[in-house]
Amino acid sequence: MTLSGEIIREFNKAYKKARVSGEPEPTAMILATSDGKGLVTSRTVLLKALDEDGFVFFTNTQSLKGRQMRECPRASATFLWKASGCQVQLVGTVQQVSDEAADAYFSTRDRGSQIGAWASHQSQPLDSRETLLQRVKELEQRYEGVEVPRPPHWTGFVLSPETVEFWTQREFRLHDRFLWSQQDGQWTRQRLNP
Ligand SMILES: Cc1cc2nc3c(=O)[nH]c(=O)nc-3n(C[C@H](O)[C@H](O)[C@H](O)COP(=O)(O)O)c2cc1C
Repeated sequence: MTLSGEIIREFNKAYKKARVSGEPEPTAMILATSDGKGLVTSRTVLLKALDEDGFVFFTNTQSLKGRQMRECPRASATFLWKASGCQVQLVGTVQQVSDEAADAYFSTRDRGSQIGAWASHQSQPLDSRETLLQRVKELEQRYEGVEVPRPPHWTGFVLSPETVEFWTQREFRLHDRFLWSQQDGQWTRQRLNP
């Protein structure tokens, strides 16, 4: 089910509050993925877009998270906005964005990051930093004077939430928690104990 306008507005409001409160990396979210057999891993990724389909981030499909999302297309993500005393948690399914959407975003990245996306065999062992820098040098030569194409193994994923929880810090640990979930094709909002 797509996200409701109300949830998107609530998220955008909390995000804006985090930014104006001085949160250094407000788009950072801790993304948890699983192999579906009980192994769960997590790491930080950056939110790059949000619309009614969900929360979009970009990564390497051959990375650990990429492999896990293939094995088990479910994920959870948490934003911690310490400066504004807020947390947002998402639980849902993940799916690759279209090649057109991935190309469009890749083309906005600076050239160094585009080369970096080719150079990094994300999550694979690397014998030395020199090996990585040598790869960068070779790629710079390969793409000299031409646009860097998007690597086929680098794309976006959209996390489409089944639940969204907004947590706000309050006095004496009596925090506010509101859980959005889906019932009979409708989003409903419920207050939870802190
Ligand atoms: C602030 C921050 C932002 C990051 N953003 C991304 C990102 O958007 N995409 C990404 O693939 N890795 C990003 N990383 C690196 C990941 O946290 C992680 O090291 C990498 O994706 C490999 O993860 P994996 O081996 O679990 O797949 C970021 C790290 C930090 C600290």
